[in-house]
Amino acid sequence: MLLPDYKKARSRGHEEVQKEKYEIPKKYEKIGKGKTYYVKTYGCQMNEHDTENIKAMLEQLGFSECDSYENSDLVLLNTCSIRENAHNKAFGMLGRLKHLKEENPNLLVGVCGCMAQEEGVVKEIMNHYRFVNFVFGTHNIHRLPEVLYESIHEKKQEIEVYSKEGNIIEDMPVKRANSFKAYVNIIYGCDKFCTYCIVPYTRGKQRSRAMDDILKEVKELISEGYQEVTLLGQNVNAYGKDLKDGYGLSDLLEEVAKTGIPRIRFMTSHPWDFTDEMIDVIAKYDNIMPSIHLPVQSGSNRILKLMGRRYTREEYLTLFHKMKERIPRVTISTDIIVGFPTETEEDFQETVDLVEECKFDNAFSFIFSPREGTAAAKIKDDTSEEEKQERLYRLNEVLNNYFLMNHQKMVGSIVPVLVEGSNASMKTSLYGYTDTNVLINFDGDTSLIGKIIPVKITEAKTWSIDGELVKETSKE
Ligand code: SAH
Ligand code: SF4
Ligand code: F3S
Repeated sequence: MLLPDYKKARSRGHEEVQKEKYEIPKKYEKIGKGKTYYVKTYGCQMNEHDTENIKAMLEQLGFSECDSYENSDLVLLNTCSIRENAHNKAFGMLGRLKHLKEENPNLLVGVCGCMAQEEGVVKEIMNHYRFVNFVFGTHNIHRLPEVLYESIHEKKQEIEVYSKEGNIIEDMPVKRANSFKAYVNIIYGCDKFCTYCIVPYTRGKQRSRAMDDILKEVKELISEGYQEVTLLGQNVNAYGKDLKDGYGLSDLLEEVAKTGIPRIRFMTSHPWDFTDEMIDVIAKYDNIMPSIHLPVQSGSNRILKLMGRRYTREEYLTLFHKMKERIPRVTISTDIIVGFPTETEEDFQETVDLVEECKFDNAFSFIFSPREGTAAAKIKDDTSEEEKQERLYRLNEVLNNYFLMNHQKMVGSIVPVLVEGSNASMKTSLYGYTDTNVLINFDGDTSLIGKIIPVKITEAKTWSIDGELVKETSKE
């Protein structure tokens, strides 16, 4: 049994991160033969991508995917710790699985992902969720076959969570959710320690993948016909800082652009280390999409300081306007937290003012959720829950207004769209994303799915736009 330890998780050592090749030990190859699995994913793109690795590993073990958890032999929850409601959802699901297991004692239940890295959660599972067969963390996903095998053969609750990150594992098998757009990890972990955030504890220290390994993966994706890659990391701007070869994100973006993959996206960027070189590279290459996610979190300098974000409102605005000037047609989206401890109405108004200045193209807004073990969770706070809800509501009114306004400006233009699918109810109704990352709906044949085509924008809505196919031959 290996339990998570926050003290160890918080420490940042100088030990070098090694690279390790994934290989499935032969003796485990048949443990899932004839059995089915279901993985439920909570959380960010990083978790979604981990699930793609997990599914492929389970299939190597002989399991096959089932589309309902009620009929599966193995149910695995890939959890998220970012806010209280992510926790509640996962525990709610465990409650349902408990009943299911009473009916079917052979059901295997596993928990992994960020919640598995939390001391409190693992204790709770050990004390109150004894029916859970196994738990593994974000640092040892590659150990799934062993952990599963142990729990089956020893007939006991198997818990294996590394508190500290291990090696970077290359060549993990992957079962991608999509056949034309793919996630590619470029950096693991985070060293920023924003005071509200649990991620540096659950994902460990910052570790970049070697550029060669990333480029190899992108080239393979191109050969398989992929149209889009999203380069993933909690703070992609820090890419390369821990490597000896001196490459940074601007170099990586440039090399990925040169592979010729039609679309490159990247997320998430911390405003603090977004360099001029990165802006120049994004502006220079047509296949780096003009769409940047740049979380601001707050418009108040006092709150930004308490959040440990390391930039001021003024610095954020300077960067924001520089991007808008230098990158043609760029759209910028953001994340905002309201109700951070001690946030006053004046602080909140500064956030609203900043939103009015930036007129964001998209945004995710949240109410602060205290996370055990983080610095902000210890700050005393007098603002009522009701007041926080009120602020969130007011903020969203302002944000939504700008989404619609920005979309209205697009009406009449022709934009390249990667067609992602068709709406189930209406077969001829397709949807996709513009280069600037706006969701667009239009009528067309399903044979267009997976292709990049020009679409004329006809109508603006708050969260999407409508368009129609351009009949002439495509330009992009
Ligand atoms: N690495 C990304 C964000 C990851 S979490 C970055 O630095 O931008 C995604 C978003 O969740 C954050 O941007 C923040 O707005 C929100 N978030 C993180 N911790 C939170 C908390 N404790 N309470 C409320 N929102 C939180
Ligand atoms: Fe969390 Fe801050 Fe790291 Fe983002 S940069 S993952 S918000 S600590
Ligand atoms: Fe959640 Fe972990 Fe991602 S906490 S947001 S799944 S890194």
